[in-house]
Formats: sequence, structure tokens, C-alpha cells
Amino acid sequence: MLESLSFFYEIASGLLAELFAMALEFKMKIIFFGDIVGRPGREALAKIISQLRKEFKPDLIVANGENLAHGKGITKKSFEEVIGAGVDLVTSGDHIWAQKEVIGLLEDKDIPLLRPANYPPSLPGNGYKILEIGARRVLVINLMGRVFFNQNLDCPFRKADEILEEFKEKADVVIVDFHAEATSEKKALGCYLDGRVSAILGTHTHVPTSDGQILPEGTAYISDVGMVGVKNSILGAKKEVALHHFLTQMPFKYEIAEDNLVEANGVFIEIDTSTGKALKIENIQRLINYSDSGLS
Ligand SMILES: [Fe+2]
Repeated sequence: MLESLSFFYEIASGLLAELFAMALEFKMKIIFFGDIVGRPGREALAKIISQLRKEFKPDLIVANGENLAHGKGITKKSFEEVIGAGVDLVTSGDHIWAQKEVIGLLEDKDIPLLRPANYPPSLPGNGYKILEIGARRVLVINLMGRVFFNQNLDCPFRKADEILEEFKEKADVVIVDFHAEATSEKKALGCYLDGRVSAILGTHTHVPTSDGQILPEGTAYISDVGMVGVKNSILGAKKEVALHHFLTQMPFKYEIAEDNLVEANGVFIEIDTSTGKALKIENIQRLINYSDSGLS
């Protein structure tokens, strides 16, 4: 009896010490991966995540998953695969509705999956979520741009205002995945939210940009994080299929590229949790060669 009591005491005091250390450190480390494209992207992520964990010691890992299943949308299996690999929360974008089974996932409020918040509110799912990381609360918001998209979505600027108004006192850290095409719209939202959120991270183009920066009022910003997908491809899709479309203007069916070399793009950010402002943003750009590992 005494032995089991001291065992529980040890665990409880260990947890308390960890929480205390986090509170004292006032720092949160986050890895955010750009669009994970199909099976090659999912497998590459699973392969690299433990190495990145050792290197960066993140408190939270978020990834955009709108291309998880066959390059368009999210199935239960593909979602569970990335969560099983160690991703804490999956964000999305314009392809969120491509697989019917995503509706069941979105309807379950306990499942860590977001759809853009500026779709009509009557649709299933949520566009933001509060995560409790130790003693800290992190609000993750998923928004979609309107430039060069066919959807008539609510204004992402005013939607961000609305969400921040509701949650501003309830979160220590605020991360925004802005899934958008135009760099002008992305930078504009970055400037609009500067000082009001901890980071605004662009996704959707699948091409990583080198403009990672801390904006004047303390928000970490990057126009696009890039993708986790086959390198020798057009945005993760088979080159010949995409090229045929550009040369003929005929409709095409998205086909995932197959190759041994996969690029894994993300960002590492550090946030001062006492102010909610960013301390650091840096690109993570890794190549995974499946022919070397025997995984092909
Ligand atoms: Fe997209």
C-alpha cells in the first residue's frame, strides 16, 4: 500500500514539476507542417516526425491535411494515420469536402480536425479550437482566402475579428492557418492581425516561401509553409497529368506523383506565452529518400 502511494506521489510531483517548469519558461514551441499530399506525404511525415521531435522538442504539432487522401480531402484512415504519427491537430482548406466520410469526422467535436471558419456556419465542423498544452491554452484558427477561389466565403478578416473577440481573454497563444492562394491577401491578413495573434501561417500553394519573419507588433508570419509531398512533381501531383491539363486545357483527375524523394516542409515557431508574441520563426525543409531506407 505504502509502495503504491509513493509511486503515485512520484508521478504527481513529476507532473507538477513539469507544469511548473513550463510556466516558468514562458515559451511554447510549435511545429507546423504545410499541406500533406497523399500517401507519400503521410509516410514521409511519419518517418521524419520523431527526428524533428528530438531536434525541436515541440509542445504542439499542427499540420494542414486537406490533401491527405489521394491528394484531395481527408478520409478517416488517412486522418488517423497522421494523428497516429504524432500530429496533434489537423487544419484544412478548399478540398475539405472532397471525401464524403470527412463529414462524420467534422461532426465529432472531440476529433482534432478543423475546416476553414469562414465557410457558412451551418456546415459541419469547427473553424477554431482551443487546445490545452500543460498550463497554457492555444487557440488555433483555420481561415480560407477569397482571391482566386470560386467559393463565396465570408470575409476572413472580419471572421478573424469575430473569433478573436470571443476568445481574446481565453488563450495564451493564437495560431492562424490561412489557406489562401494570393500572397497579397496573405500578407494583408498578416498585417491586419499583427500583434493580435502569435502566428499567421500561409498554406495551399504547396511551395515554401522564404519570407518567414516577425511582423512589427510581434506576430510570426510566412506566406506559405510549403508541402509534404513528392519533390519531382507539380505540387505533389504527377507532372504529366498536370502538364497535359496546361497544354490542352482539358479537365484532369488529380493523380499523386510517385517517386522516392519526398520533401517535408514546415515551420518551427517559438512563442512567449506571457505576451502571446512570437520569438522565432524558421523554415523546416527536409528531404526523405525512400530508396535509401528501403521503404519504397
Ligand atoms: Fe488548398
